[in-house]
Amino acid sequence: MSIEHIRKLIEADMAAMDEVIRVKLHSDVVLVRQVGEYIINSGGKRLRPALVILSAGAFGYTGKYHHNLAAIIEFIHTATLLHDDVVDASELRRSKATANALFGNAASVLVGDFLYSRAFQMMVEINNMRIMQVLADATNTIAEGEVLQLLNCRDPNVTEENYLQVIRYKTAKLFEAATRIGAILSNATPEDEESIAAYGMHLGTAFQLTDDMLDYSGDYHDTGKNLGDDLAEGKPTLPLIYAMKTGSKEQAIIVRDAIKQGGEEGLQAVLEVIQKTNALGYTRQKAEAESLMASSAISSLSNSNYKECLLQLVTFAVSRNY
Ligand code: IPE
Ligand code: IPE
Ligand code: MG
Ligand code: MG
Repeated sequence: MSIEHIRKLIEADMAAMDEVIRVKLHSDVVLVRQVGEYIINSGGKRLRPALVILSAGAFGYTGKYHHNLAAIIEFIHTATLLHDDVVDASELRRSKATANALFGNAASVLVGDFLYSRAFQMMVEINNMRIMQVLADATNTIAEGEVLQLLNCRDPNVTEENYLQVIRYKTAKLFEAATRIGAILSNATPEDEESIAAYGMHLGTAFQLTDDMLDYSGDYHDTGKNLGDDLAEGKPTLPLIYAMKTGSKEQAIIVRDAIKQGGEEGLQAVLEVIQKTNALGYTRQKAEAESLMASSAISSLSNSNYKECLLQLVTFAVSRNY
């Protein structure tokens, strides 16, 4: 089963979610609509909402609220991207100019706030206290993760553990929430809910590890983002942490200095060290280990096409080039 098969299985549900997004993106304030529609309609893999749909499907959900929940998750994700691109001073996303590049930082921050708060209005409509709790906690944790990462910037002493905490908070938590709310909505057993939440957490971790690899090895035609952004911001991601740990003294100094300095000048030398220390191979290995944990977390779920798709997504998360 490929990513296309996954799309086919949930096509109608994703279309229903898109309709919710279209309606809920509405505002009488023109700039809100402009920025909101710009980022939402510029593509994006819609991976997190797909997880809501697949999780609900895996537990036999037959209602309609999963479309709203999927839209809520995508709104929260989109809000984090609007804010993240301001913080990271990024200029390219989804193969287009970022909203901050086009409309300015202020508009991006404020429309991000609009999307967060719209997502919370929509949650209240669903009126399920546990789901609200999961989403409120996840949103809060993402913010903590982004702040934690800010503190780690330009610090070459950040450990693999510190780094893993950042990616669990800023990325994996929302994957976890997406799968968990699918289970809650479907009245899954507590055991099944924990299984699919663990799946989401490991999948999200694998996804971000792969993303951090792609920042050094991808092609911007595929990723739709500029490469080398992480180093430019002085972000100590796993490829760098590993290169410093296993490289020679000289190699470690090259990476340390580039992290401390930020900017683009150090990129070529750092890429060389990354290559010689096989730091991307190590990062990939870590991503694969997380993906195995994701798959085994749902081994006890009853078999279904939805479960098949969840397993396929694990492969996609680590083998993707976009
Ligand atoms: C981007 O997520 C942010 C990360 C966690 C790396 P995606 O790669 O899922 O972004 P879109 O929605 O497909 O653009
Ligand atoms: C993604 O983080 C943003 C959040 C998860 C909040 P990154 O900064 O690592 O991702 P990209 O490269 O901008 O998509
Ligand atoms: Mg970023
Ligand atoms: Mg960032």
